[in-house]
Amino acid sequence: MSASNLRGTSSSSPVSGFRFPVSDASRLKIVFVGHVDHGKSTLIGRILVETNSLPEGKVEAIQKTCLAERRPFEYAFVLDALSEEQEQNITIDTTQIQFRSARRDYVIIDAPGHQEFLKNMITGAANADAAVVVIAADEGVREQSRRHGQLLNLLGIRQVIVAVNKMDLAGFQEERFREIEKEYAAFLLGLRITARAFIPISANTGENVTRDSNGATPWFREDNLLKALDRLDGPGSAADLPLRFPIQDVYRVENRRVFAGRIESGTLKIGDQLVFSPHNKTARVATIERWGTAPTELARAGESIGITLSDHIFIERGHVASHETDAPVESNRVHARVFWIGREPLRAGARYRLKLVTQEVECQVVSVTNVIDAATLDAPTAENTELKTNEVADVTFQTRAPLVFDNHDRVPNLGRLVLVDGRNLVGGGIVSGAVYMSRKQIKSENIFWTESEITAARRTARNGHRGAVVWLTGLSGAGKSTIARALENELFQRAMNTYVLDGDNLRHGLNSNLGFAPEDRAENIRRVSEVAKLMADAGTVVITSFISPYRIDRRLAREIALQAGAEFVEIFVNAPLAVCEERDPKGLYQKARAGQLKGFTGIDAPYEPPEDPDIVVQTDELTAAESVDRILSHLLPRLRLK
Ligand code: ADX
Repeated sequence: MSASNLRGTSSSSPVSGFRFPVSDASRLKIVFVGHVDHGKSTLIGRILVETNSLPEGKVEAIQKTCLAERRPFEYAFVLDALSEEQEQNITIDTTQIQFRSARRDYVIIDAPGHQEFLKNMITGAANADAAVVVIAADEGVREQSRRHGQLLNLLGIRQVIVAVNKMDLAGFQEERFREIEKEYAAFLLGLRITARAFIPISANTGENVTRDSNGATPWFREDNLLKALDRLDGPGSAADLPLRFPIQDVYRVENRRVFAGRIESGTLKIGDQLVFSPHNKTARVATIERWGTAPTELARAGESIGITLSDHIFIERGHVASHETDAPVESNRVHARVFWIGREPLRAGARYRLKLVTQEVECQVVSVTNVIDAATLDAPTAENTELKTNEVADVTFQTRAPLVFDNHDRVPNLGRLVLVDGRNLVGGGIVSGAVYMSRKQIKSENIFWTESEITAARRTARNGHRGAVVWLTGLSGAGKSTIARALENELFQRAMNTYVLDGDNLRHGLNSNLGFAPEDRAENIRRVSEVAKLMADAGTVVITSFISPYRIDRRLAREIALQAGAEFVEIFVNAPLAVCEERDPKGLYQKARAGQLKGFTGIDAPYEPPEDPDIVVQTDELTAAESVDRILSHLLPRLRLK
């Protein structure tokens, strides 16, 4: 059983012959946690057997095998048998073990090993409503018992039952039970969790599991485990939360574009006005489509659907649809409480990939505070800013592209993120402290701003040309500044309004607080994009001269310009790295090679060449004048009034 096949568990794929015809919403999902040797499997096995939840003949089959192998029957074998079956039956998602009490249906989320458990918990695969913590009476509270408690807290699982197991090994002594109860209750209290019950059980003998004790624990008058489970609150319905529909894929079906994904929360109807984050685009739902069934009027949390829209807007995987009134947060900064399982510690400055529903974005750690050891809950110290394996901390991330999310306590599924380093899952966390802003307000401010009496058309008419953003990108030394100046000259001589925004110049003023780390470069380009947009809107042909090494930032620049209705022309000023290095106009390549300048583009920082630029000028083959001619012949017809 791996994290990946635990993902997206649904009611439609249980073990064959092991299925209850119930909907997700009415089932309580419980996770059994505890130290490996504390009897989890035996307990689960016994519950399954005593609630008659196993497929016909299963117990008999196990008994037969035991007999043949000359070993006594053990309840733990039930789980082994089920997981063997699961391994053979890889086409079916068999990770949900189910049982039924007099009151309701349960799904047990189990994970065989410690690491798998951690992974499943933090990836949300084990999205449980409640937890049973198993602690063995003979060994008592162990480090893992505490760690798991911490995780439950982190994941917002507030309903916890503590089963003190192996009471037979402690002679069913009340004293031992109370001792463990006292210790672990105090620990949970530190996490602000009040256990719903502490129950002395023996999974081996069956005491207080699904039946009351037959005399061994006369001092315990409360409910047995099954009854205590039945007293837990039912799962809250995700359909009652704000709508979150993250786009997984975009399909072209005939001439329509279908946006497919799983509704994480809320409901969605035909005719609903949706806002897509990031970028605040709106459109109405035209149709709701399901695979293999007729279209419907309405869809709700948990369903995988496709929708078509009545307006044509650009949407792709990772965008999240919501209603306008309660949209998620959209930001480049996100704060999360992170549980770390990576081998290398997490430190400020480190980079990872951050995944959140269908979004995946590069991020950098801005700060790490409140580091605590998950097992001891020792008070954090201010000096400790390094997050090691099995520790928990508050971490702030800066993402390369805008991220769409919610606070975990508002919409759990949009408030859970995972960190990946290379191919390894290294941590997970829950989002907190994000501030919500009304999208309507943001939008109406923009509308107000564009509704100037002096329209772009009027400016164009008077200037004789359109405003535009002419975006030069390329390595340092490729010739951007030279070409920008020459182009500016040519345009000026043609009586056009023009201005150069140059990297080095802007870094003296507007962007003087930015360095060359990826997020600084992103912010550099974002500011330049916004300034260029304004100038283009004012009617100027803005020539920008920045390395702008990241595709995604340049794409954002284009989007920002297009939002204002300005032309955007991307020009790749290209020369081989060796040529740029040879030119080395500022002596920076030499410094970078000598190790005196870190993170220099082309040497030890990336440059992502444009995939589809409007114009390429190859400056190792053309003179500056030839390059400018080529640009002009493309540009002038686009900008001048016919
Ligand atoms: S960008 O990557 O954020 O687009 P920008 O064009 O503003 O960069 O600035 C690049 C200029 O900064 C270079 O021409 C060079 O003079 C200077 N510079 C200083 N350090 C670096 C660095 N580490 N990488 C690239 N350019 C640098």
